[in-house]
Amino acid sequence: MTAAASPIEPREPKYYLVKRHLLEIIETLEPGAPVPTERELTVELATSRTTVRQALSELVGEGRLIRRQGSGTFVAEPKIVWPFQMTSFTEQAAANGFVASAKLLAAERIRASGEIATRLNLRSSAFAYRIERLRLADDIPMAVETSHLSVAAFPGLIKHLRQTSSLYRVLADVYDVVPVSAEESIETAAASPREAALLGTDTGAPMLILSRHSFEIDGTPVEWVRSWYRGDRYRFVAHLSTA
Ligand code: GLP
Repeated sequence: MTAAASPIEPREPKYYLVKRHLLEIIETLEPGAPVPTERELTVELATSRTTVRQALSELVGEGRLIRRQGSGTFVAEPKIVWPFQMTSFTEQAAANGFVASAKLLAAERIRASGEIATRLNLRSSAFAYRIERLRLADDIPMAVETSHLSVAAFPGLIKHLRQTSSLYRVLADVYDVVPVSAEESIETAAASPREAALLGTDTGAPMLILSRHSFEIDGTPVEWVRSWYRGDRYRFVAHLSTA
């Protein structure tokens, strides 16, 4: 005879009750509306300030609430829906009604080794570009992208990127190269102080890291890139189909 499985009833932490209460409030409000203050919630729910703070922080991290220094906590705007597609940041932004731009944070030639050499199919110690750009949509910082490309394949690339914000445009117009396929993965990480400062969020805030390894039609690798997006601002959508 087997013992009856006991249903697992997870004990709900106290802050989670506060969070659920806040979620109910959020459902009734418009983006931009203020939510009750820490002090009001502490009194209303007869709980500690630490508990309330934890619930608020989680909702901020999830992009449901937004904190404005000195003025309070408000219902956040809906997330930006970004498609998982073989298009450029510039094209993705345009499809969402934004004008894309880029700020070149770093551009250097490095000796390829390890993963970079393998991804770009370069001999160890051949030159690769390391290009770090802050991507903006309507002048709002959206992502930090660190790209690696072969120097031999794209001579003079940095000079062109100082003039044009779209890498894919430069690749097509100057080098006649179009990345047509890619493997893209997504994972989470906490924002470092640097990314947090660049993207206007808090150190430790949840981030989404997209890694894209793109190829030309004949399978030649084009770019190996890691893009850090704010986890509270984005929802990535992929369209799946059997056809
Ligand atoms: C996306 C991709 C990057 C690519 C970039 C090019 O953001 N994840 O891998 O480098 O597009 O965009 P743009 O042509 O706007 O520079």
